[in-house]
Amino acid sequence: MIDMHNHILFDTDDGPKEIEESVRMIETAVEAGFDELMLTPHYFPNGPYLKTTKENTEKFELLKRVVEKAGIPVKLFLGSEIMYAYHVPDLVCSGDFKTLGDTCYFLLETQRRGATAEGLLGVVRKLEQMGFSSVFAHPERVDFVQEEPEILRDFISRGCLIQCNYLSLTDYYGPAPERTIRQLLEMGLVHTIGSDAHQKEAYELWPQADERGKAAAGEDSWKRITMDNPAKLLAGEKLVTEAGPVRMTVSSYLGKTDLGIIFE
Ligand SMILES: [Fe+2]
Repeated sequence: MIDMHNHILFDTDDGPKEIEESVRMIETAVEAGFDELMLTPHYFPNGPYLKTTKENTEKFELLKRVVEKAGIPVKLFLGSEIMYAYHVPDLVCSGDFKTLGDTCYFLLETQRRGATAEGLLGVVRKLEQMGFSSVFAHPERVDFVQEEPEILRDFISRGCLIQCNYLSLTDYYGPAPERTIRQLLEMGLVHTIGSDAHQKEAYELWPQADERGKAAAGEDSWKRITMDNPAKLLAGEKLVTEAGPVRMTVSSYLGKTDLGIIFE
């Protein structure tokens, strides 16, 4: 199983400060059943999280060496979680943040309160014009999605994938995200999940979330969301989803990848 979103990387954001704690998080993730982890440190264009990809890569390589030496059976990848700002597309070549592993996908988040769908959609559209695709992180925690879950169809129709936090299925964030993730799962609007873990406790809640997710989405969909889709995303294959048709992204036309082509 792949965790596509977490803050395991030490000394980069509001996750662990020390490498030892990163290792403990990885051990807990592996115990929970995750054998591939996409590390996605925060990048906030307007601060306070401004560590560059170069800085993150140095820590990532060090962590990888430590994990390998400790014999922990896990594969690590590096990405970023990018906070919405209207000028995010202008920063793509700055080296401040990166895509998820070697894919053409940027993981985007937006403020939980007071943001607009239009703002984030604008960034998704501009990135698409540049040949990149987007993943919308934990929309179930965002007020404009809680008020109108259907709004996610606008994102999906632009080739944007939807990634929810499995913790939202527990009472970790409270009733609104829990209600919304259930709605999104029932509507078939979720492509992948992530832990968004900032501490190891997030992985200890996986069995509870797994059980609830299976019940809400149905066993086949849950397997697709938790296992098949993340693997395909990383491997550059097509995703299958019930979230409705998603049109081809510019990068698909350019032949860089066919990740953006999603049917039914
Ligand atoms: Fe996150």
